[in-house]
Amino acid sequence: MNKQVLEFKNVWKTYHMGDGLVNALAGLDLSLDEGSFTAVMGPSGSGKSTFLHVAGILDEPTMGVFRINGKETINLSMKEQARLRRNEIGFIFQRFNLLSQLTSLENVMLPMINKDLEKAKEILDKMGLEDKHHKRPTQLSGGELQRVAIARALINDPSIILADEPTGELDTANADSIMKILQDLNHNNGVSIVVVTHNPASASFADEIIHMSDGKIVNMDSK
Ligand SMILES: Nc1ncnc2c1ncn2[C@@H]1O[C@H](COP(=O)(O)OP(=O)(O)O)[C@@H](O)[C@H]1O
Ligand SMILES: [Mg+2]
Repeated sequence: MNKQVLEFKNVWKTYHMGDGLVNALAGLDLSLDEGSFTAVMGPSGSGKSTFLHVAGILDEPTMGVFRINGKETINLSMKEQARLRRNEIGFIFQRFNLLSQLTSLENVMLPMINKDLEKAKEILDKMGLEDKHHKRPTQLSGGELQRVAIARALINDPSIILADEPTGELDTANADSIMKILQDLNHNNGVSIVVVTHNPASASFADEIIHMSDGKIVNMDSK
């Protein structure tokens, strides 16, 4: 039996919007195996980012059961949640979310508890950024920025990478190279990966593609 890295059982997430309520997730059911590589597609507002936020313990379900590596996070203290998030999860965002006043190396070291300069350098080198360690974000291209962001996401050896439209700001060549890096991490290091994307070419790197609509999964394609 495969171990499940993420499990959603009838998960709802309700937000207040003005006087009304919005069900960003509306009975989401999903189990992802350890070592899987999944793309999530769906129209704007279908709940993709909310799904990633719950998966990454940045947000809690309003109702339903959510487990990460078999653990139900809602019972954990804030401190335990933070530790789980830091140790198990790497986030990658569309707009990179790097701190502009810090160098690549400093950005990558930010989430490290025990600052390990050599490890940070090594991960940047693996991303092909050996000559960019001391550059700040304004001195880097979009593709380079996203590779710094991936290095930062990997610095604590997460078991899961969650990426929210990581190729949304990139041209085709850079988008493919970012997806290739994620695919290599999945194949060679066994990291489980979930990528939200609007781009079918980016989605095609994944082993399965989930389609969301109105806070639910409406379709799932496997390779
Ligand atoms: N923090 C929030 N407060 C209120 N409504 C939200 C919040 N986050 C998301 N929503 C609403 O939930 C729905 C799903 O949003 P989201 O998960 O961002 O979708 P997607 O990423 O697919 O575009 C949308 O209707 C959105 O407006
Ligand atoms: Mg979104």
